[in-house]
Amino acid sequence: MKIRSEIIGVGSHVPANIFTNFDLEKMMDTTDEWIQQRTGIVQRHWVDEATSTSDLAYEASLKAIANSGLLKTDIDMIIFATLSPDHEFPGTGCFLQAKLGIPEIAVLDIRQQCTGFLYALSIADKFILSGSHKNILIVGAEVHSKGLDKTPNGRNVAVLFGDGAGAVIVSAREMLNPSSDSRIISTHLFSDGSFAKELWLPAPGTALGADRINNKMLEQGLQYPQMNGKSVFVHATKRMAECLMTACKESKVDLNEIDLFLFHQANLRINSKVAEFLSISEDKVFNTIQNYGNTTAATIPIGMDDAIKAGVLKKGMLVASAAFGSGFTWASALWRF
Ligand code: ACO
Repeated sequence: MKIRSEIIGVGSHVPANIFTNFDLEKMMDTTDEWIQQRTGIVQRHWVDEATSTSDLAYEASLKAIANSGLLKTDIDMIIFATLSPDHEFPGTGCFLQAKLGIPEIAVLDIRQQCTGFLYALSIADKFILSGSHKNILIVGAEVHSKGLDKTPNGRNVAVLFGDGAGAVIVSAREMLNPSSDSRIISTHLFSDGSFAKELWLPAPGTALGADRINNKMLEQGLQYPQMNGKSVFVHATKRMAECLMTACKESKVDLNEIDLFLFHQANLRINSKVAEFLSISEDKVFNTIQNYGNTTAATIPIGMDDAIKAGVLKKGMLVASAAFGSGFTWASALWRF
């Protein structure tokens, strides 16, 4: 029997508290106009102090499992993508597993930042196709708000990020018709570590001298993300367009056949540029950054869930995803829903 991997359940969860650009104007030296013009962001959701990354992931996972029609005990692997873990170790997937109450299955945490969800999708696809696993829960979840410098010093980064979680269930199914079956058709993963410090979080870390973290590092603000925004912009537009073309070429799919583009949401202008490079009609690109800001590994599954709820993503559609993030990492996926 030939196997395929199918996304059979989708769920998402964002915290209740909304912070608009106007709320941020009161916290740091910024304006709604600056944020909207440069990024497209209107608002973002930020957690209260009691909520962690695995709490958001738990809610999204329950919804994805319910949506799949499976029981949580049917899940045989969890792949957790995040850059904002509950704790340094163990991986947040273990904390999620305990909350879900599904012991003794495989749990994997991955660290590919904004590209994390597509890396996770690719890993799940390979495990399913190998025949070793049948129902894999993938979660992308982030609590950025507890790690941002919300003073004027951090305004260039703090305005960009929001909290949230998205989850999907990928399951093994028999391949009946490769050209019409719902399935992950291809994934392509890339990275170039020579750009690692263009977007990174220096501390805590073992490459910083005698201590992983100390007062001097805190005074220097090394516990906050550092970004070269212009470099990220230039590389993101180029690499996302490039890896989408790789996906089309390798899978022998014409770009015009794709019904919907579900891109990572770093910045509305990045996605517009990618659409412009490839002559993709903008109404085929589903953007959510206006409502959530950049939710990193959670972005694509949140977008998937919103697109389904909005009636934009329908069963049988051919979908292309692309993402770019810290690392630099980038990836594409082609899948039929
Ligand atoms: N509010 C108001 N002014 C600001 C803010 C802010 N939040 N942040 C920076 N500025 C000021 C700067 O101080 C600068 O002022 P100056 O001209 O007086 O020196 C001015 O705005 C322009 O700053 P730039 O950094 O040149 O702004 P730029 O036009 O490059 O826009 C941005 C910054 C939006 C980050 C842009 O570089 C970008 O889109 N980069 C892509 C990075 C990105 O989207 N990252 C998201 C995470 S990464 C990922 O998911 C892939």
